[in-house]
Amino acid sequence: MKRILSCMQPTNRLHLGNYLGALKNWVALQNEGAECLYGVVDLHAITAGHDPAELAQSTREIAAAYIASGVDPKKSTIFVQSSVLAHSELMWLFSAIAQMGKLERMTQFKDKAGKHKERASVGLFAYPVLMAADILVYKATHVPVGEDQKQHLELAREIASTFNHKFCGGDEFFPMPEPVITGEATRVMSLRNGTEKMSKSAESDMSRINLTDDADLIAKKITKATSDPHPLPDNIKDLEERPEADNLYSIYAALSGKRKEHVVKEFAGKGFGEFKPALADLCVEKLSPITARMSELMADPAEIDKILRAGAEKANTLAEPVLKEAMDKMGFWRP
Ligand code: AMP
Ligand code: TRP
Repeated sequence: MKRILSCMQPTNRLHLGNYLGALKNWVALQNEGAECLYGVVDLHAITAGHDPAELAQSTREIAAAYIASGVDPKKSTIFVQSSVLAHSELMWLFSAIAQMGKLERMTQFKDKAGKHKERASVGLFAYPVLMAADILVYKATHVPVGEDQKQHLELAREIASTFNHKFCGGDEFFPMPEPVITGEATRVMSLRNGTEKMSKSAESDMSRINLTDDADLIAKKITKATSDPHPLPDNIKDLEERPEADNLYSIYAALSGKRKEHVVKEFAGKGFGEFKPALADLCVEKLSPITARMSELMADPAEIDKILRAGAEKANTLAEPVLKEAMDKMGFWRP
């Protein structure tokens, strides 16, 4: 039985990388009829400092972005992590088997902690252990994410395997969650620098396309996107040494649903002067309905809250028995 789970943090706004690397695939999996759970991971969002005045609203906004992108609350369960306590409880159990050395190697921790590792929070360090609990508390089998989450998924698999080995006599109590990293844009790069990931936290807003940007802003960001002086190639191999061009092609391919090699053929011999406006039009065409739907949803927060309450109820029903069973396996006394 396939069970899909994925999550995003309610920190800042979502961008094109989140959409192409993750959300678009979430919707496709849902529409294939798989059982899907999509969480807003607010407990993760407090690990690098947050504004209490904004957390609840950002949480609603991420839920709205899921729905606006095509996650249908009638088909998928949309829930907030902190409303399912079993995540944190299972995380604590896992923290007894996750190794410090493994966590120290996590590149996301190294990036986020920066130079002052000793000042980073324990939560930021233990972040991947909570992520493993998010996944395994539902015994999820497939996790659609962008490429940058591969290492965290690997850790979740190791935790599952250690748990099964130590406490379940090698039986597969927790399934090995498979990463689902698909599409033509599993790692969308910054529009300013083709060697950096498009991210919520990059200083320049011109480096990313937010799901809330209007048509003019999208066009401006694409027109100003860093490119290179060479003519557009007629062969996908020629993109290898051209990270900025490669990134723009990947975005075009992912948005249009075409293979990158077809897009290369389509624009062969033309210049960025022709390609960029076509890309801008495509972005606007695909993103503006999402942006419009998001504003509609945000105008009715009570409706979002209703969806999130129903999601929490469903998610708790699934997670609680798994937590209880895991505690039994570990030998806890229970009332
Ligand atoms: P985050 O923005 O780090 O909370 O990521 C939420 C989801 O979006 C995760 O599945 C990430 O792997 C994915 N994601 C974030 N940034 C990118 C990017 N630049 N390209 C592709 N996927 C991304
Ligand atoms: N770590 C993910 C990110 O930064 C978010 C996340 C938390 C997640 N828990 C998860 C993703 C469980 C997939 C499954 O994007």
